[in-house]
Amino acid sequence: MKNKIFLFMLVLVMGILAACGTAADEGASSGSKTDEKAEQSKVLRVGTSADYAPFEYVDTAKSDEIIGFDIDLANLIADRLGYKLQFTNTDFNSLIPGLQADKFDFVIAGMTPTEDRDEVVDFSVAYYETEQYLVTPKDSDISSLKDLKGKVVGAQVSSIQEDLAKIFAEENGFTVESRNLIPEIIQELKNGRFQGAVIENIVAENYLAQNDDLTSFPIEVEDPDFKAVVFQEGSDLKAEFDEVIQALIDEGKIDELKKKWFVVEE
Ligand code: ARG
Repeated sequence: MKNKIFLFMLVLVMGILAACGTAADEGASSGSKTDEKAEQSKVLRVGTSADYAPFEYVDTAKSDEIIGFDIDLANLIADRLGYKLQFTNTDFNSLIPGLQADKFDFVIAGMTPTEDRDEVVDFSVAYYETEQYLVTPKDSDISSLKDLKGKVVGAQVSSIQEDLAKIFAEENGFTVESRNLIPEIIQELKNGRFQGAVIENIVAENYLAQNDDLTSFPIEVEDPDFKAVVFQEGSDLKAEFDEVIQALIDEGKIDELKKKWFVVEE
């Protein structure tokens, strides 16, 4: 009997607690101005691959903070929409899987919309367009893709540059070797393992400015390399981001970011 009363009391107390919980929740979402604000400064988890100066990188001499064109852009967008951002640095080829596994709310990493990617994630409107370069050691006498016959050309794993390198490899008889990080590719160029590497112009120029043993020439590609913000498929963020990105383009804010971050002005 005692046990039964105890059980009854327990159930009663749990019931009251649950009811209190609901009441409290309802109170919190009753929609006053401050609540809306609190809800808006929601933290978004952002994935990036900080090996891509000047778009996203860490200036290790100064701090361990991720900085760059894309980071500024993400912060501008977040400010306008009232979000806070929390960045995670990971290899470029882990970014799309990270979105799919709900580790990130969005990715900004100089990523180019492609048909294959579009099947598993969503892209914002494009905020930037770049060209491709073939980077070579200065003493190599390589000035066209044809000169790379029988040589090794590097590219970043899972990048459109890797796809391009593979296409050019077939046409010009060289082999492609991929690395996870751009600095690894630069290293292989300097130590002679790679005789060339496909890297986009702005990133290449950034490395050339710091390595006078490297040089580059532009390569013709069919599809332009746009950059866009990347979302989980079906994400509500896309519509709000698109609107702000378009506004930032129209207001000349993207041009200001280019001036701030690019070594060589276009
Ligand atoms: N635009 C190229 C792509 O989407 C390369 C981007 C690499 N980005 C980076 N943060 N490493 O495949």
